[in-house]
Amino acid sequence: MIPPLIELKALVKKFPAQGGKDVTAVDGVSLAIHAGESVGLVGESGSGKSTLGLLMTRLLPVSDGHIFFDGADITHLPDGQMRPLRSDIQIVFQDPWGALNPRMTVGRSMAEPLLLHTTMTGTQRQQAVKALADQVHLPQATLNRFPHELSGGQLQRVSIARAIASKPRLLVLDEPTSSLDLSVRAGILDLLNGIRKDTGVALLLISHDLETVELMTDRLVVLYLGKVVEEGPTQSIFAQPAHPYTQTLMSANLPPDPRVKLNRLTAFGEIPSPINLPTGCLFSSRCPLSRPECTEKFPAYSEIQGQDDMPDQHLVACNRVPDASNWLTAAPHTH
Ligand SMILES: Nc1ncnc2c1ncn2[C@@H]1O[C@H](COP(=O)(O)OP(=O)(O)OP(=O)(O)O)[C@@H](O)[C@H]1O
Ligand SMILES: [Mg+2]
Repeated sequence: MIPPLIELKALVKKFPAQGGKDVTAVDGVSLAIHAGESVGLVGESGSGKSTLGLLMTRLLPVSDGHIFFDGADITHLPDGQMRPLRSDIQIVFQDPWGALNPRMTVGRSMAEPLLLHTTMTGTQRQQAVKALADQVHLPQATLNRFPHELSGGQLQRVSIARAIASKPRLLVLDEPTSSLDLSVRAGILDLLNGIRKDTGVALLLISHDLETVELMTDRLVVLYLGKVVEEGPTQSIFAQPAHPYTQTLMSANLPPDPRVKLNRLTAFGEIPSPINLPTGCLFSSRCPLSRPECTEKFPAYSEIQGQDDMPDQHLVACNRVPDASNWLTAAPHTH
């Protein structure tokens, strides 16, 4: 059997916090991304999405658990051995202004990864940079300019060009459009879809925007306070969100349309501090469906019965799933 492209097993990340306590930003996350797959990662601010992205790309050291790439354990691979893999795993951040050296022309910034990851000659690199500019739909004239002379959308195209220069097999995108004007977002998403089609790169798309995720991904992972609460085919989760937390996320995104048959759930209050986590189910302190047992027992994952044409597992961690029909409506919502 072909192993997943990347697999996380019980991954944990703790940061030291004030008073000698720890912040658990990622708390035992297991998930797999297969070659060419597009996976969405959603959850509100502070749920650990960026931290998970940084762990996967080995830009942050892991506190516990394992990362496998192509079946090989890379969790603690030393920098020297990690180097060839860096070309396979790339990340694009939210803020393209911060990601580029302001004193380097855009063309030179784009040539940098080629210098690092390939044995191209100077002339070959120049050619490759021009081809990359075409690939991300950047006018050739921008290559001689400096970052401050470009728009946010153009700068994000440069960041994407840098990330795909080494022909990665996994591209982590951490809110790639949320710092950009609404008018240029669709263009960037189109570009990413095109790159995926042309190169077969797998995507992990971190986003607050459920509409974007629905459009761009095959599978969805819902994170809450560092734990996966629901995971499955994107279509299946949108048609039948099983975790009350997912329902609250979706309710917050739904238009106020009376024809939409989804029960609207609203979470109480704000996301708790990860220093003082609730006991039992982490969502129990805000869950409108919480019962006393929810604060005692961390829920096991159970499977939601999907449609026949969706063989991928749809999993949810909720103690109340056996009576899920109490809050799920039969009609799939539309929006
Ligand atoms: N370097 C750090 N040191 C200490 N705590 C951190 C650090 N990075 C993240 N955290 C904490 O870890 C938790 C998860 O943060 P993270 O940035 O991963 O969330 P996120 O889901 O990406 O949020 P957002 O949607 O706002 O980007 C937060 O409580 C955050 O304060
Ligand atoms: Mg983040």
